[in-house]
Amino acid sequence: MPRKYHLTVVGAGYVGLATAIGLASRGHSIDLVEVRNDRLGALQAGQLPIHEPGMDAAFANPEIRGRIRPGALIPDEPSDAVLICVGTPMDENGRSDLRQLQGALEAARPHIRAGVPLVIRSTLPAGSSESIVRWSGGDSSRLFTNPEFLAQGRALEDFLAPSRVVIGTFPGPDAQALSVVEDLLGSDTCPVMVVSVIEADLIKNGSNAYLALKLSYANELAVLCEELGADVITVIDGIGLDPRLGRGYMRPSFGFGGSCLPKDLRSITNVGRDLGLEMHVTSAASDANDAHQRRFARRIVAALESGKGRVAMLGLAFKAGTDDVRSSPSLRVAELLLGRGIEVVGYDPHAGMNAAAALPGLRVVATAAEALQGSSVAVIGTEWPEFRQLDWRALGPTMASQVVIDGRRLLDGPAMTALGFSYAAVGAAGVPQINRTKQSARP
Ligand SMILES: NC(=O)c1ccc[n+]([C@@H]2O[C@H](COP(=O)([O-])OP(=O)(O)OC[C@H]3O[C@@H](n4cnc5c(N)ncnc54)[C@H](O)[C@@H]3O)[C@@H](O)[C@H]2O)c1
Repeated sequence: MPRKYHLTVVGAGYVGLATAIGLASRGHSIDLVEVRNDRLGALQAGQLPIHEPGMDAAFANPEIRGRIRPGALIPDEPSDAVLICVGTPMDENGRSDLRQLQGALEAARPHIRAGVPLVIRSTLPAGSSESIVRWSGGDSSRLFTNPEFLAQGRALEDFLAPSRVVIGTFPGPDAQALSVVEDLLGSDTCPVMVVSVIEADLIKNGSNAYLALKLSYANELAVLCEELGADVITVIDGIGLDPRLGRGYMRPSFGFGGSCLPKDLRSITNVGRDLGLEMHVTSAASDANDAHQRRFARRIVAALESGKGRVAMLGLAFKAGTDDVRSSPSLRVAELLLGRGIEVVGYDPHAGMNAAAALPGLRVVATAAEALQGSSVAVIGTEWPEFRQLDWRALGPTMASQVVIDGRRLLDGPAMTALGFSYAAVGAAGVPQINRTKQSARP
């Protein structure tokens, strides 16, 4: 019978909730600590404060929820382990802001002193170990890292069935504490690597940066295809047939976002630069991502008559399956359009409230139909499947002109054209022309 632990999880964001709910579903009991009143209030009311498929159902299970006790402070009584899942967001200089981590480690000091193993699951920039040991109170023998590799939109699933488990150790790890961490977070179904803390950081930063490189490359190919009159999907399909290359993480769009990929690209670049190394590849990928979003905004402007009119941005989350808008390409493009005096009306099935808070000036409405009505251009900004199911035949005539620019290659282009839309997409040639026949057919 596997041992059941009493744990403290600090931070109830995407990673903290996946960790707490995942571990509770394995029978462990959890004190879940969160400082944000809105998130804590929702949890105390029995609701999940984020949108994450599968997690709401798990949290609605009374047995699982009954094992999770939300609170604002780390309880005084020691638990079997403290798991830190607080944010390490990118600051304005492209470096990880570690203030949440410092606060959490300082708050956990009494537990560390009492001999409780402490595991940092937040993403750390390589080379931050010294500060971490200092903030934890000096003794690193019971400090570990365990970077999380989950993808939003499948967070709980990834937590429960990871591709690998990486445990980072500081010099001289306490064997007993390490065995608790391995017992708790290890896996029988995937490789478990116990490595130095710097190696663990680099595995995490390096994985995210590599995913970002692949996306940047697909997006760069898309730009080339637009100019040459080729279809990037066909090109990537052909490239992906090479077993050395594969097709994974090569879906073209107008940019990648989220709280992880842009940050880890910048982080790895800055860690190298601090050592006097020019990180050519990661640095270029960050620049490319910015350029792709700017280019997409220019493409939208070019589709507007004299650069004027209203744009409907369908999808505001950084990707489908989440309500997260951190570094969302849709919001970045909306911001660029607003900066040119263009009205943007946004709609997202789950991220509307977060988007409205993140981008003042963006009008967020409750339905796609509302966003489309009277708009001159509809932009697919997030690949929500429900946008495929919209009744485009009925919605088209409510637009000021039936122009769609598909930033995610979501819609069926020929079908949209057959419905009378002027349709263009990333990685395919053409700026859509305003369809005046449809414009005059508008009610
Ligand atoms: N989001 C992802 O897909 C993902 C995937 C892998 C790794 N990560 C990494 O995991 C970490 C957390 O990411 P996230 O997306 O869950 O962030 P998040 O911002 O959604 O959640 C962090 C939470 O920690 C809380 N917090 C901060 N200080 C606290 C304290 N002292 N006590 C209690 N709570 C505190 C914040 O209020 C916030 O709710 C980051 O380092 C991130 O880079 C994220």
